[in-house]
Amino acid sequence: MKDIIIAIDGYSSSGKSTMARQLAAAIGYAYIDSGAMYRAVTLHAMRQGMISPDGTLDTQALTRALPHIAIDFRVPQGETASHTYLNDTDVEQEIRTMAVSAHVSPVAAVPDVRHALTEMMRRYGLRRRIVMDGRDIGTTVFPDAEMKIFVDASPQERARRRHAELIAKGNTDTSYEEVLQNIRQRDHIDRTRSESPLRQAPDAIILNNDNLTPDAQAAWLLEKYRQIADA
Ligand code: DC
Repeated sequence: MKDIIIAIDGYSSSGKSTMARQLAAAIGYAYIDSGAMYRAVTLHAMRQGMISPDGTLDTQALTRALPHIAIDFRVPQGETASHTYLNDTDVEQEIRTMAVSAHVSPVAAVPDVRHALTEMMRRYGLRRRIVMDGRDIGTTVFPDAEMKIFVDASPQERARRRHAELIAKGNTDTSYEEVLQNIRQRDHIDRTRSESPLRQAPDAIILNNDNLTPDAQAAWLLEKYRQIADA
């Protein structure tokens, strides 16, 4: 089997991270969540007061701070999954909050932020053997990745899953329609930003998981990996 890079791109709430994490565990590769890196930079900007209460980002201050932001992934003692660390502190919980989700889009649209994080991501791929998920992994970060998957699921199906997740976590205040609207809005921002917009790489394999069970999807991915790494 060859050592390869696996890039999984797609829309928000399409199940990318779950499938990337599972595949990495199944084949003994490292899993890198590139969205977590954008979230960690956003958290740093929030903590340093670079985002005003009306949501305006001080782009210059953030650009100046970039050399002082270190992000890495470690498995904390007693845990099995890796956590995101920002300047040596575990921020895995904090980067998933609604507050960070609300501010991450403008941060991810800043070209200097994208360049710095793209460099960091490429260092993870130096020895290949990684599964990385995001929006521009197969197009910009690793255009030479041997396996590229573009995950496509309808906004309705993604909203249905996300809404069910919220209900399961006890959040009954958000309606399906609100979730659907938020997903459509994020799709629009991801697709239309000028720097590295979400688009399918010409050599990506499309995975539409509207009608696939998680097990069928995992088996499909493993099969694709074997075909590519064995060739
Ligand atoms: O996948 P996620 O929701 O955790 O991503 C968080 C944000 O980061 C989202 O607004 C899109 C952005 N992102 C990006 O622009 N490029 C990536 N490779 C990964 C995420």
